[in-house]
Amino acid sequence: MTSVTSTATQSTASQPAPAPTFAVIPGAQVQQALDGREKQIVDLVEATYRLHGAGDSVNPPSYFLRFADRPKDRIIALPSSLGGPVRVDGLKWISSFPANVTAGLPRASAVLILNDHDTGYPFACLESSIISATRTAASAALAADWLTRTGRRPTRIGFFGTGLIARYIHTFLAGTGWTFDTIGAHDVSTDSAAGFCGYLREAGGAGQVVVHDSAEELIRSSDLVVFATIAGKPHVTDPAWFTHNPVVLHVSLRDLAPEILLGSANIVDDVEHCLKADTSPHLAEQLTGSRGFLDGTLNDVMTGRITLPTDRPVIFSPFGLGVLDLAVGKYVYDEVARAGHLRLIDDFFHELRRHG
Ligand SMILES: NC(=O)c1ccc[n+]([C@@H]2O[C@H](COP(=O)([O-])OP(=O)(O)OC[C@H]3O[C@@H](n4cnc5c(N)ncnc54)[C@H](O)[C@@H]3O)[C@@H](O)[C@H]2O)c1
Repeated sequence: MTSVTSTATQSTASQPAPAPTFAVIPGAQVQQALDGREKQIVDLVEATYRLHGAGDSVNPPSYFLRFADRPKDRIIALPSSLGGPVRVDGLKWISSFPANVTAGLPRASAVLILNDHDTGYPFACLESSIISATRTAASAALAADWLTRTGRRPTRIGFFGTGLIARYIHTFLAGTGWTFDTIGAHDVSTDSAAGFCGYLREAGGAGQVVVHDSAEELIRSSDLVVFATIAGKPHVTDPAWFTHNPVVLHVSLRDLAPEILLGSANIVDDVEHCLKADTSPHLAEQLTGSRGFLDGTLNDVMTGRITLPTDRPVIFSPFGLGVLDLAVGKYVYDEVARAGHLRLIDDFFHELRRHG
């Protein structure tokens, strides 16, 4: 078995189409397909942002399922469609249950459904917490590269929040050639900070690793700052902490007070997506009644439509686009299929004759 072909639309009445197939791709296969492919995945994410920027995608707003009795938890649906050479539709369904971490489980869990471009038939269900973390980290590494091209390459990175996403972002930076003199870490949980430092030791190649008890100290001593907390509302409020004009990857979206954004250059992945759900850019829009504080998207930077200032901090706030999950998910599917390891579910689609 190599790949699902979409023959349904080419068939005639006398020659029924072959039954569509359905594969389940577990996390171990996903991880194997992505292992060591940081450069390829960052290139894929860049190509996907360019397709999205050129309008060759459909990426409606994410749908947030929230619970009155469990206000910290949520499940998000991200439907999307990607054109270009990928040509696939689908849906990511991702849960965030922060208390999982105290029970020893990652916060997020997810599946990704891929639908065939021509028939609409779903053809695969993939474990997607790895895909989601991978595309998030690849997007952060891509932004770190593009947003630091006008100035000196940062050598001091600070991780504000040191969970699974911080680990993936470090892996993607290291895997795409970044090295640092110092790696700072700050977390409200000493266990998280210790676990992250343990990962850095295992990963090797790290410069000096410094755990900062003080958030201010972490930010002031880093020229590339990664926010990957689970904060629901801004807790970093003093613009003076950013007077050294760092590049900030604001992956967790809700850490920074709007005043900090208003004194910075602001880059997002998609304007409509990012100005929702009480993200810091959304709060800045509410505070000022305008979107004038936004400089543009990462695609605008990549296509040269905007030039970044060097006299202010630069903040990248990526909402996280479903098209990235599709691109990475299809890459994984193709890799597993190419290796001949697709696990197909027999007779998944059973009612295939309209009149019995
Ligand atoms: N923008 C995107 O595309 C995207 C994609 C995936 C995840 N995320 C976000 O990334 C964040 C991190 O996810 P994760 O899976 O690593 O979570 P995690 O639970 O594994 O780690 C989060 C860490 O942040 C720490 N933390 C929480 N509040 C803090 C604070 N005020 N100061 C310092 N540390 C704090 C926690 O102790 C924990 O160690 C989440 O907010 C998630 O929604 C964003």
